[in-house]
Order: sequence, then C-alpha cells, then structure tokens
Amino acid sequence: MNQQLNFPKDFWWGSAWSAEQAEGRGDTGKAETVWEHWFKEEPNRFYNRISSEVTTDHFNRYQEDVQLMKQTGHNSFRLSISWARMFPDGGVGTVNPKAITFYRKLMTEMNENGIKPFVNLYHFDMPFLLQEKGGWESREVVDAYVRFATTCFEEFGDLVYHWFTFNEPLGPILGSYLEGFHYPGIVDFKRGAQAAFHTILAHALAIEAFKKQGYSSKIGVILNLSPTYPRSQNPADIEAAEIVDALYTRSFLDPMVKGTFPTKLVELLKEYHQMPEFEEQDLVIIKENTAQILGLNYYEPRRVKARLTGINPNGPFLPEWFYENYDMPGKRMNVYRGWEIYEKGIYDLCLDIRDNYGNIEAFISENGMGVADEERFMDETGQVIDEYRIDYIKDHLAYVHKAIQEGCQIKGYHLWTFIDCWSWINTYKNRYGLVSLDLATQKRTIKKSGEFYQKMSQDNGFDYDVSKLV
Ligand code: BG6
Repeated sequence: MNQQLNFPKDFWWGSAWSAEQAEGRGDTGKAETVWEHWFKEEPNRFYNRISSEVTTDHFNRYQEDVQLMKQTGHNSFRLSISWARMFPDGGVGTVNPKAITFYRKLMTEMNENGIKPFVNLYHFDMPFLLQEKGGWESREVVDAYVRFATTCFEEFGDLVYHWFTFNEPLGPILGSYLEGFHYPGIVDFKRGAQAAFHTILAHALAIEAFKKQGYSSKIGVILNLSPTYPRSQNPADIEAAEIVDALYTRSFLDPMVKGTFPTKLVELLKEYHQMPEFEEQDLVIIKENTAQILGLNYYEPRRVKARLTGINPNGPFLPEWFYENYDMPGKRMNVYRGWEIYEKGIYDLCLDIRDNYGNIEAFISENGMGVADEERFMDETGQVIDEYRIDYIKDHLAYVHKAIQEGCQIKGYHLWTFIDCWSWINTYKNRYGLVSLDLATQKRTIKKSGEFYQKMSQDNGFDYDVSKLV
C-alpha cells in the first residue's frame, strides 16, 4: 500500500562528516592529532594502511563540495572544527588565523548556497600533545577544550546554525579504554570513567560559556544511541539489558540532557569501585548546563542476554561482566560493517526521547550504510547504482515519519555521509557517501542515492509502501 510520506515544513535534509575524516591536512598549519600519531606508531592498525593525511581533500575542494551538497538536496550539513587546526601548538597557545579564514570561507559558502552549517566541536580528534597530558582524564584538557569552544563561538557564531559539543562521546571511551579501536588502546574501566566524567563536564562548561554570549542558535550534543533489547523476558535477560542500557545509553544521555546521572549506573560503579573523581561543584555545573538540542546517531540495536559463563575475577573489570551479546536468529545484517539493520530501532529511540527526555528538540544526526567494494555496483558511466542505500534510507525514514506523527520533535535527518570519507581504523573500506570518491584522482561522482536524496529533499518526502511498517 503505497503512500506519500510528507515531512514537516523546513525539515533539515542533509548529511554529516568530521574534520579528521574529510579535510586533509591543508596548508594552514595543524597540530598532530592522535590519529596521525597512531598511524605513525602502528600503521598496521589501519585498513590498507591509509592515513588521514589526504582523506577527501575537502580543505582544497570545499567550493566544489558545497555545490555537490546543493546538487544532492542538502539544506543543512554537519561539519566539525579541527581543534588541532585552530590551535596548531598542540591544542593550546595561540589561535591560528589561517584556520579561522578557512572555516569562515567554508561556512560563508554554505550559507550563500542555502546550506545551514551544523557545527560540532569534537569528533574523536584530540591534539596529540593534549593526549600526552592525559586526554580527557585531565582537567587541564577540559580547560583547553572550553577555551577552544569559546574561541569558536566568538569566531564563527554569526555563521553557525546550531552547535554541538561532542559527537558520540561514548566512542572514545570504549575505543581508548576498553576495546582498542582508538588511541591509546588501553584496558582500564576506571580511567575510562574518569575520561567520561570530564567529557560530560566539558560539555556543560562549553554550554555555560555559550549561554553567556546570547546567540539565537542552540547548542546540544550528538549521541550514538542504540535501543537495548533483551533476548527474552527472563528476569536475568532483562537485568542484563538494564545494565547495558545504563552503561551505554543513559551514561551520557542523562547527564548531558537532564543534568543527572542514572542511579543504576552510579550504584554499579560504586559497588565495583570504578567511580571517577570529581568536585561537588562539577555536579552543579552539569545540572545547570544541559543540551538544548539533541542529535541522534542510530545504526543498529543492542541485543543482549544474561551471561552463560562466569567471569575471570583476575581479569580487568569490563561491561561484559554483566551480559553477552545476543546473536538473534534471522536478524538482517549489513555484512560489510557487521552491524544489524533494524529500522524500527530508530522509532523506539525517538519514542524514548519523547517520553523520557521531555521531548527535547532532536534530529537524526547520523544513520547510514557502509558498503565495501562499491565499484561492483558502478554502471558504464561510473555511477554507483546503490539501490540498497536508497532502501535503507527510506526504511529508516518511514519510521522517523511515524515517530513524528506520534508527537516526536524530530526536526531533520542527516545521513552518514556526504562524499565517501575516511573512517578511522576502517579507513576507506566501507563507503557511506551519497557521492563516490575515486581515491586516486579525488574525482567525485554523485551516486544513484545522491539523486534520490535530491528529489526527496525537493519533495520533502517520498513514496513508500507503508504496509512494511510494523
Ligand atoms: C559514527 C561516527 O560512529 O559512525 C563516524 O560518528 C563514523 O565518525 C561512522 O565514521 C561510521 O562508522 P565507521 O566505523 O564505519 O566509520
């Protein structure tokens, strides 16, 4: 049963990426980031040993790229500002006038072409010298971040539509302190908890600084949120899901949006002696400076079950002490990335925000499908015919549409990503873009999905078989 799904007026159609993943080094001067440093130390960690030196070379090609944004229907786009570019002496010291010029030119170009700049301040790209000082474990780094944020508000405040303090703050905690996919790849929960607390504090302090300047734009945060589903209604499965939910979902969502920490999480950390250190005043700052807008990154759900086996008490404390991943029979997979595709999860997430977070103004800030070897799907003209991505987008958006009809305040949809970009340790393995990138020549070609995206944005909706919704 096909029906036209129309989205609210002024819906934000766009996509997102980050500085380290797309800009390339450029010639402004830039401090070394943890990614550049890690690549020098251990290139074997990076798929096909590709560094972030050149990436999508957006620094040199931003004008062409803004035109491509237009041609693919963007009315908004999220970029991030490179802290290392803004403060080339290692994230501190003197602000870089050349970096200011670059970002002002880029955002002016966007605004002049009808594309609202959504600007994120931190997307995994710590200047290496600050990492040497302890990274997010250090309060000195929190202070340096607030100075970076304040400088950005002052320099770009007239050009930015909405601000974001962090992208997926959970990522660097899991990656750096538990699972080894970010530098320095250590295993230490307590240090991770300290870094997480300081991230939350840095978010609140940046919001406090922002509010003092009286801008009409809003400031918020982008969180990766996966609804957690227990294998069954067995109490042990439910308990496992509740702990996972507290650790991975509420841990940042509650303090950054509500200003409070979830009781279940605090009790758990106390019981296992994993509490971070903080000052009482920090809690007041966190309480009083919460997000004004929320970005929701959704890729896959979390499915968990009670542990079958005991834990090794001599091993490091880990979230896995409380659960095992549940490999649900029949689930649909994006086999390239190893992530489940479950469209209804985006709807459950939106309803959670409506019901438990005061229906804060929100948007889908990332959602997308990374596919390897996309050349397989190129036609004779060199265009990638990515019907699977079009289906992926429609299937998720149909659930977003349903959520909006049920009262969720979802203001837009940003796909990951615009032009195929560099993806951390996966580098260019999986391609996510609406526009393909030839790595050898930097040639950009709009994919079939890019054409679809343009039409969808122009029509502010699309035709969909609603009988697929459950
Ligand atoms: C999000 C990040 O987690 O997912 C992006 O914000 C990232 O930076 C994207 O690139 C896709 O994940 P991956 O690991 O395939 O690059």
